[in-house]
Amino acid sequence: MSRLIVVSNRVAPIKPGKVAAGGLAVGVYDALRQSGGIWFGWSGEVSSTPQTNTETVGEITYVTMGLTRQDYDQYYRGFSNATLWPIFHYRIDLARYNRQEYDGYRRVNGMLAAQLKPLLKPDDIIWVHDYHLIPFAEECRRLGIRNRIGFFLHIPFPPPEILTVIPPHNDLLKTLCFYDLIGFQTETDRLAFQDYMTREVRGILEKDGSLTAYGQNFRAGVYPIGVVPDEIQELAESSQRRRRPMRRITDVERKKIISVDRLDYSKGLVERFKAYEALFDRFPEHRRGVEFIQIAPTSRSDVKTYQHIRQQLESEAGHINGRLSDLDWTPLHYLNKSHDRRVLTGLFRDADIGFVTPLRDGMNLVAKEYVASQDPDDPGVLVLSRFAGAAHELTSALIVNPYDCIGMAEALDRALRMPLAERRDRYEHMMSIIRSADLDAWRDTFLRDLRAFSSRPKAQVQASPLFSV
Ligand code: UDP
Ligand code: G6P
Repeated sequence: MSRLIVVSNRVAPIKPGKVAAGGLAVGVYDALRQSGGIWFGWSGEVSSTPQTNTETVGEITYVTMGLTRQDYDQYYRGFSNATLWPIFHYRIDLARYNRQEYDGYRRVNGMLAAQLKPLLKPDDIIWVHDYHLIPFAEECRRLGIRNRIGFFLHIPFPPPEILTVIPPHNDLLKTLCFYDLIGFQTETDRLAFQDYMTREVRGILEKDGSLTAYGQNFRAGVYPIGVVPDEIQELAESSQRRRRPMRRITDVERKKIISVDRLDYSKGLVERFKAYEALFDRFPEHRRGVEFIQIAPTSRSDVKTYQHIRQQLESEAGHINGRLSDLDWTPLHYLNKSHDRRVLTGLFRDADIGFVTPLRDGMNLVAKEYVASQDPDDPGVLVLSRFAGAAHELTSALIVNPYDCIGMAEALDRALRMPLAERRDRYEHMMSIIRSADLDAWRDTFLRDLRAFSSRPKAQVQASPLFSV
C-alpha cells in the first residue's frame, strides 16, 4: 500500500493537550491518526534561521519547518490571509492585494515543494490542503515529481465574478490544474470552480466528467468533511457525567445557547450578537431565562481586519451586558480563550441551542460537533446559517439567514419553545447524515478517487508549459 503524505500549512499540535486551531487541523488529525502517514507543513515558528523538525507520535510522522519573517508576512499574513481568505469568503471589501506578497506566496510554495521532494518515494500519494498551497502541485511538477497529488479546499470557492478581483487570478488558478484531483466541500463550490474553468479560461468539460484547462487534465469532486460521531458522543457523555460545565457559571436553571468560533469576520459574530439582543426586545418573556456563551479564541491577530472585528465584538458584548444584565443575570458570556474538545463537547451537550451563523463558511465542523454531542433522548436544537457548507447536509437544523437579524431572533424563539418530539425528529435526521458522511468517509472517498490516477509520465512533468495559457 502506498504511503500517504499530507501537506498543509497548519499542522495539529504535536504535543498532546494543546488545542488545534481550526477545522483543518482537527479534521486532518482525526483522519491521519487512523490511517497513519507523514504530515508535512509549517511548525508555527517564525525565525531568521528556520529549522526543520521530524517527530513520530503514534502512526503520524510530523515533518515541520519554520518560516522567515519575510515568508510569514508575505505568504501567510499577506497573500493567504489578507487576499485569499477574504475573497474566498466573498468579502471583497476586506481584501487587499500586494504583488510582493503574491511573489512571496509563490516562493514559499516552491520552497516547501523542494523540501518535500527528498522525502518522497515513487508510489507515495500526496494530499495537499487548503488555500495556502494552491500552487504546490505545480511546483512539484516543475521539480519532476510524478506522484499522484490531490488538493482539498476547506473553505468556499467563490463565483468567478468575485474570484477575478484577485489580480493574478489566472496565474493562480492555472497552478491548481496541476493537481490530479481537486476536492470541494459542496456542490456550490465545485460548480463555481467549473464555471471559472469553462467560462473564464475556456477549459473543456470532458465527456468523462474531467476538466481540461491550461493543457492539463484533472478531476474536481465534492467531499464534505465530517466528524467522528461516536467519539464525540462518548466525550460529551463522559464530560457531562463528570460535571455539568455550565452549572459552574450559574446555579440558576436557564436555557443555554452556545457558539464556538475562531474570532473571524467570516463567522458572523457581530450579526449574531445583534440577533441575540433582538430576541429580548421582540420576545421579552425570555429575559432572565436565557444565557448565551460565545467562545471565540483569537485568530490571526496580526492581520488588521481581525483586530478590527475583535474591537467591534468587545464593544457589542459590553453593550448587550450593560444594557440587559441584572445582579443575578449576565445574558452574554464572551470568552476569548480556546477550549479543549472534551470541555466543548460537554458544553454542547448541556446547551439547548447551538447557534452557528457564519456569513460564509466552507463546512463548519462545530455545527456537526454540536449535533453529535447531544443527548438522543433530549437533544438541543441547531440554528444554522444557510451560508455554512454544513447547511447543505444538515437540512433539519433551523436554517437562518445571518443578515436577517429579526429572522434569527425568531429562530431562537422557536428553538427555545420547540417540543421534544420535533427536537428528536430533527436530531435523528441530522445524526443519520453525520454518521453516513463521517470523517472516515471523507478521507476514504477522496483517497480512493486519488488512487485511481496513475503517476504522471516523465515527459509530461518535465515539459510542462508552466506559464502559458
Ligand atoms: N475548536 C477547539 N477549541 C476551541 C475552538 C474551536 O477545539 O476553543 C475546534 C472546534 O471544535 C472545531 C474546530 O476547532 O473542530 C473549528 O472548525 P470549524 O470548521 O468550525 O471552523 P474553522 O475554525 O475551521 O473555520
Ligand atoms: C480554517 C482554515 C485552515 C486554518 C484554520 C486556522 O480552518 O481553513 O486552513 O488552518 O482556519 O487558521 P490558522 O491561520 O490559525 O491556521
